[in-house]
Amino acid sequence: MIGVIRGTGSCVPERVLTNDGIAGLVETSDGWIRERTGIEERRVVTTETCASLAAEAARWALQDAGMDAAELELIVVSTMSPTRVMPCTACEVQAAIGAGAAQCFDLNAACSGFVAAWHTVNAYMAAGFVKKALIVGSECLSKVTDWTDRSTCILFGDGAGAVVVSAEEGSPYLPAACSDGAAGGALTLRNRQDGSPFQATGEAAKPEGSYFMEMDGQAVFKFAVRKVPQVIEEVLEKNRLGREAISHYVLHQANQRIVEAVARRLGEPMEKFPMNLQRYGNTSSASIPILLDELNRGGALKSGEKLVLAGFGGGLTWGAAVTEW
Ligand code: ACO
Repeated sequence: MIGVIRGTGSCVPERVLTNDGIAGLVETSDGWIRERTGIEERRVVTTETCASLAAEAARWALQDAGMDAAELELIVVSTMSPTRVMPCTACEVQAAIGAGAAQCFDLNAACSGFVAAWHTVNAYMAAGFVKKALIVGSECLSKVTDWTDRSTCILFGDGAGAVVVSAEEGSPYLPAACSDGAAGGALTLRNRQDGSPFQATGEAAKPEGSYFMEMDGQAVFKFAVRKVPQVIEEVLEKNRLGREAISHYVLHQANQRIVEAVARRLGEPMEKFPMNLQRYGNTSSASIPILLDELNRGGALKSGEKLVLAGFGGGLTWGAAVTEW
């Protein structure tokens, strides 16, 4: 069995934060941010949560698929910025949309999370475990961003995207993905509870340290422009597909320069690399499904077309998948 996308949805917070808005917080400028990243503005939560964004994206995806939430057998939410550790965000989404028959769990592979969730759900379907599933990527990165650090706060945004997937007759496309935990220090976010309260003095005390994302930008940039073309070539080779078979490469929306470098290295035209990072910044595991939803609703995807999805980020992690529209 092969997983096929039946519907897409997305939800971003109402509050828009422009580059000029960030220039009011740290020493930077709209010109610098645009030139180095392509980003013009991003959305940030005020009252929305990781689960509320995810649930709204899920409702739109179910509506697009013409499916009732009660039909879902599996909900996987990819996030690295959940409101709660427990219950997981997928269970919160289940309660919000009324998907009482679904098994639910979260998955964290940072910005590769949506692709990891896609591979997981496809493996469940290939094994015959489930027929109808929901995958959501949802992030509230504004809550884990240091708004005094100009090297990171210009990059990230909040939002959620969702796809409804059903199992159809056919052979699944093989995945390509890998990780490099030894290089993980290039992009980190400590858990608020990672220090033992008893560590320092043997008595309970507040753990010290930063609980915001920290990044070696140049190391991440170099990693992305090397690994993403490689993993795309690998997924095409594994599935015996030429580049001409692919209509769109839907890449994690981290940075315009990264997307352009990947296109150059693959020798593919920029028209095959849609982007919306200008408006949303880097929304980590939400970026691929938000972009898919925009392409779908804009009529850019034609039935039977093959797409490559590619994610990369913290871990370090990277992965690519082929899907048929
Ligand atoms: N505004 C103005 N100046 C700045 C800013 C800013 N926001 N940030 C850094 N600078 C300054 C630096 O201090 C430095 O000044 P100096 O030369 O006087 O020391 C200068 O600009 C150059 O800094 P670099 O860090 O070398 O800038 P670079 O060209 O590498 O651009 C950037 C930084 C945009 C972060 C780039 O490295 C990048 O895009 N990296 C990839 C980051 C990324 O995409 N991360 C997420 C991907 S993975 C995931 O999605 C989780």
